Amino acid sequence: MALIAPSLLSANFLQLREDCTMLNNSEADWFHLDVMDGRFVPNISFGPMIIKFITSTTHKVCDVHLMIEEPEKYAGAFQEAGATSLTVHFEACKHLHSNIQQIKSLGMKAGVAINPHTPVALLQDILADIDLVCLMSVNPGFGGQSFIPHSIEKIAALKKMISDRDLNVLIEVDGGINLENASLIIAAGADVLVAGNTIFKSADPAFTISQLKKL
Ligand code: DX5
Ligand code: ZN
Repeated sequence: MALIAPSLLSANFLQLREDCTMLNNSEADWFHLDVMDGRFVPNISFGPMIIKFITSTTHKVCDVHLMIEEPEKYAGAFQEAGATSLTVHFEACKHLHSNIQQIKSLGMKAGVAINPHTPVALLQDILADIDLVCLMSVNPGFGGQSFIPHSIEKIAALKKMISDRDLNVLIEVDGGINLENASLIIAAGADVLVAGNTIFKSADPAFTISQLKKL
């Protein structure tokens, strides 16, 4: 059984409170919050102000996925906005180790996200310092894209790297997850499934979450 982290990028922002209440009353484990800056990715989403409203509605883990450059400038703002964990992109950080130390010193769990083209082997020297790897199974920037099949091999290889060293690092898979491919993704070694469109565009989002939870 994997943890389920609905991505609020696909929520209805005109009824954000209702969507948060639905998630709070559902079997969702985490809230996944996607921050985009229009520089690292070709889209702009929301920042600490909106996240503060969202975190005020919940006691669940608020998992903030930063798709932004220079995340060190904003880590404090996301901590104040109520982030439980903060994930930065491998490709966006010149000084990744120092970014991770900053996040941990602010009292948050630290994650590293990798794009589809980034080999998991490049995580070898940061793996012992982090709580989470967010393995992107689409190119970041938009919800509703198709799962890239090669991600399955990457999940399995990363799982082996983690278990070979007996580390305590969660594998989160993000992008294009649906009820058809989720079992394969869990079997490959995923601990956390992020899902946006599959949950929020379904007729009954809470029921879809419970279906994902049963896999
Ligand atoms: C993409 C985001 C994802 C996205 C997932 O850049 O990081 O979290 O919202 O959405 P779906 O599940 O619709 O692919
Ligand atoms: Zn995400």
